[in-house]
Amino acid sequence: MTEDRIISTEEIAQDDTDVTLRPQKLSEYVGQSKIKENLRIFLEAAKRRGETVEHVLLYGAPGLGKTTLAHVIANELGANIRITSGPAIEKTGDLAAILTNLQEGDILFIDEIHRLNRGVEEILYPAMEDYALDIVIGKGPSARTLRIDLPKFTIIGATTKVSSLTAPLRDRFGMTYHLNYYEHDDMERIVGRSARILGVEMDETTAGDIAKRSRRTPRVANRLLKRVRDYCQVEGDGRVSTEHCFNAFAMLEVDELGLDNIDRKILELIIDKFKGGPVGLNTIAAATGEDVSTIEDVYEPYLIQLGFLDRSPRGRLATDSAYLHLEKERK
Ligand SMILES: Nc1ncnc2c1ncn2[C@@H]1O[C@H](COP(=O)(O)OP(=O)(O)OP(=O)(O)O)[C@@H](O)[C@H]1O
Ligand SMILES: [Mg+2]
Repeated sequence: MTEDRIISTEEIAQDDTDVTLRPQKLSEYVGQSKIKENLRIFLEAAKRRGETVEHVLLYGAPGLGKTTLAHVIANELGANIRITSGPAIEKTGDLAAILTNLQEGDILFIDEIHRLNRGVEEILYPAMEDYALDIVIGKGPSARTLRIDLPKFTIIGATTKVSSLTAPLRDRFGMTYHLNYYEHDDMERIVGRSARILGVEMDETTAGDIAKRSRRTPRVANRLLKRVRDYCQVEGDGRVSTEHCFNAFAMLEVDELGLDNIDRKILELIIDKFKGGPVGLNTIAAATGEDVSTIEDVYEPYLIQLGFLDRSPRGRLATDSAYLHLEKERK
């Protein structure tokens, strides 16, 4: 269901042109200025000392630029980057194979690092701390451990759920950066930058119009821009005019705050059927035909961000701002 949503923050197959839109250098990476400033100093210091960079943990909501930043760090260091993910490393042997193939200074990017299984995670501890791999040989009383030295490398872990990370794993990262939702000006710059790369010509105010509807998330901005471009190619002369742009938003059913029909359906349900709530998550899920986890991870965060939805122990509540936005009266 969610993959059809234009404003979904989750990665989908059509996002493949994102590769060309992905910033390569820190200077091209828009926004997140505190993180960039920190990284600039810390990467430069490691480079000057000729040392391997400490392990870095990146966390934040989907589509905010964690994977992009990992590649930027590798580029800035001129390092090789190997890419894997928590669920892809099933057995301890898989991780051992990856680690023993690394070279000094390499970066190992582990996406969704909160989904590593326990056994694999335990192999990672000495690898991160001492650059060593402890392998158990044999079984029973004759079993012994063999320690293999690993080259000095850097792990960049990414997660959308930092609270699901175990404390021992979290503690082994020298640097932790929290990526925030983007400010409007930064979103506008991201749309402008992507438009230039894609060769899209637009009216002066269009970047702002698209930015406003992009849920403060670069991935959504890029996707919305591409859909608007498609619309203008078919319905107009290719140039993105304000008028065509607004027609495209209407066709995509994305309103001026970036809410789509499912977001509105959730709010309307709480307002119209339950007098503003509280309504249990299961009820919302059943009534909208979405999974509980999809509602919780995909729809709710932005509605809460906007201050349209409140979480309470007894369920979800629609706020006054939600009533105002949907032009409803409290009864
Ligand atoms: N700071 C930025 N400046 C410009 N473009 C950005 C920035 N951050 C992200 N993007 C764009 O947004 C897209 C999505 O970013 P990315 O894939 O890095 O997100 P993510 O945080 O890894 O998401 P997920 O949690 O789903 O893995 C990128 O392809 C890139 O084009
Ligand atoms: Mg990613």
